[in-house]
Amino acid sequence: MDDLRTPPPDLYGRPRADTFFRFLTAFGDRYSPALGGPLLRRNPRRPLGRPAPALQLVVAARRAVAADAVELTLADPSGGPLPPWQPGAHLRLTLPSGRERHYSLCGDPTDSADPADSADPADSADRANPAAYRIAVRRLPDGGGGSVEIHDTVRPGTRLTARRPRNGFAFCAEPAVLLLAGGIGVTPLLPMAREAQRHGLDWRLVHTGRSADTLPFADELRALDPARVHLRTDDEHGGPPTGAELLAHAPRGAAVYCCGPAPMLAAVQRALDASPASALHFERFGAAPVTDGEPFTVRLGADGPGLAVPADRSALDVLREARPELAYSCRQGFCGTCEVRLLAGTADHRDRRLTPEQRAAGALLPCVSRAAAGETLVVDL
Ligand code: FES
Repeated sequence: MDDLRTPPPDLYGRPRADTFFRFLTAFGDRYSPALGGPLLRRNPRRPLGRPAPALQLVVAARRAVAADAVELTLADPSGGPLPPWQPGAHLRLTLPSGRERHYSLCGDPTDSADPADSADPADSADRANPAAYRIAVRRLPDGGGGSVEIHDTVRPGTRLTARRPRNGFAFCAEPAVLLLAGGIGVTPLLPMAREAQRHGLDWRLVHTGRSADTLPFADELRALDPARVHLRTDDEHGGPPTGAELLAHAPRGAAVYCCGPAPMLAAVQRALDASPASALHFERFGAAPVTDGEPFTVRLGADGPGLAVPADRSALDVLREARPELAYSCRQGFCGTCEVRLLAGTADHRDRRLTPEQRAAGALLPCVSRAAAGETLVVDL
């Protein structure tokens, strides 16, 4: 297992500066309730309180990439270059409705707006300014509405805003790599596969899904090296794969990068120790399951109704039953979208975003934060 406190250098030999790397991708952080401190270290190059201006983007193209998934190509409206990114990065998009959602970038970071930037593709991914970003979105009718909005209303010409790409799932220079994708989870792994191929790494990719028509980008992956890509569908195998089945594809000592639904990640985590793999980095869809919660109560204002939060549900899920308009995005405690004001009660803050000062001032992220058994949190809703 990796030393989770000391991430390896990136593909270009630089020490990793993004503190989210350790907290969003390392195997050991999954159930840790004490993640607040180290993440509060900010990038010293960017002064507090001065976030980079939002990117103005226009949808330049839209195409179907699977039965229920579309790819959007996003460009600068004036055709200018966009901020660079590296495999594993995501974009925080603001949709026309105001919803904010995170989507992994699935294009090629070496696709430069300036041909001179890509003269040496093996060396250019850290400095090229791309001409466009690509994301892919699966339609989730029972989700929070973001994917349905994109599928139903976002077309070529639609204007969107975004934050600069950020990487919470960075790709390392391990010589042997296994990429495990569940459905649309292939999006961050597709650039990793390209990068692994470009750098001559010993890589494999297993893409799983219900059926072949639900697997986006199968042709692009096969075009890299068909011998390294394995498509595995539930309909052909009678159900989803076990963790051991997935990890059997790992070259000895491989680092595993996994992106998919929670049951897939859990299966891989359980099987890791008995596998030939040496380390696991992952990115999960949506919220992690609550595994060490206690039942408590959230009250909507001092005189409002009290809502019971069971041990295995988030306060956000319970609050949204009474306040469906309550916004959220990551459901993992790092984006800050779901912030509410705590008026009374002692919270067990489990987010990865708020500073001690913000917490002391009453900020609470109910997607992950909880309270001790029997406690009542009064929130300003
Ligand atoms: S939804 Fe992102 S912090 Fe709660």
